[in-house]
Amino acid sequence: MGNLYKLTIFRYDPESNKTSTSKYEVEVTESHWTLLDVFRYIKNNVDDTLTFRYSCGQGICGSCAVTVNGKSVLACETQMKFLDSFDLVVEPLRGFPVIRDLVVDHSVLDDKVRKVMPWLVCKKDSESDKERFQSVEDRAKLDGLYECIICGSCVAACPTFWKNKTFLGPQALLYACRFMLDSRDEGKNERFEILADKDGIYGCHTIFNCMEVCPKELNPGKAILELRKMFMNEEF
Ligand code: FES
Repeated sequence: MGNLYKLTIFRYDPESNKTSTSKYEVEVTESHWTLLDVFRYIKNNVDDTLTFRYSCGQGICGSCAVTVNGKSVLACETQMKFLDSFDLVVEPLRGFPVIRDLVVDHSVLDDKVRKVMPWLVCKKDSESDKERFQSVEDRAKLDGLYECIICGSCVAACPTFWKNKTFLGPQALLYACRFMLDSRDEGKNERFEILADKDGIYGCHTIFNCMEVCPKELNPGKAILELRKMFMNEEF
């Protein structure tokens, strides 16, 4: 005998352009079951029209993020036994265009991350072809920044992003900080031209929902404050 979960799942049919909800009851008998396991159970045994997205199933690809009882989570990392309710309202990530049911269009995230130049900018000179060394101390400065899996949970939890879609958002700014703090990067001036305005580092209202929901326990809000400090101190 397991625990009975009652799920109310948001549905969107792009053909008819109609939204609705579907209710399912699933008895979870295995203690290791995740929310993704429940979605797969429904798809395979109850309703094969339910649409959701996942790939790795291990918290790596970032594709399975959804909203559960108002909070962004990774379905594959959310163990049912740790949820604090047996009644679950499951919706797509907030603030994103919905493609179908729980699947949202992530391209807005990709565009924002691309904008902050998420790569090392290295000037072409006689040293260009040589290996660029980094000390252990400088490498350690990137801890808590490079682990982002681009799941969009932080962006979906950010009220500033809901209101202002031109705001770069916590995920892109975390990425920016990862490269701005990299001792090998030479693109700080160029990057700050993109970051230092009301849609960049000054768009954040320090609400810190991003930190609350990040499945990797990263802190985009802190990264944004770090970028503001760098800009104010002209550390570039
Ligand atoms: S399926 Fe890859 S992070 Fe969940």
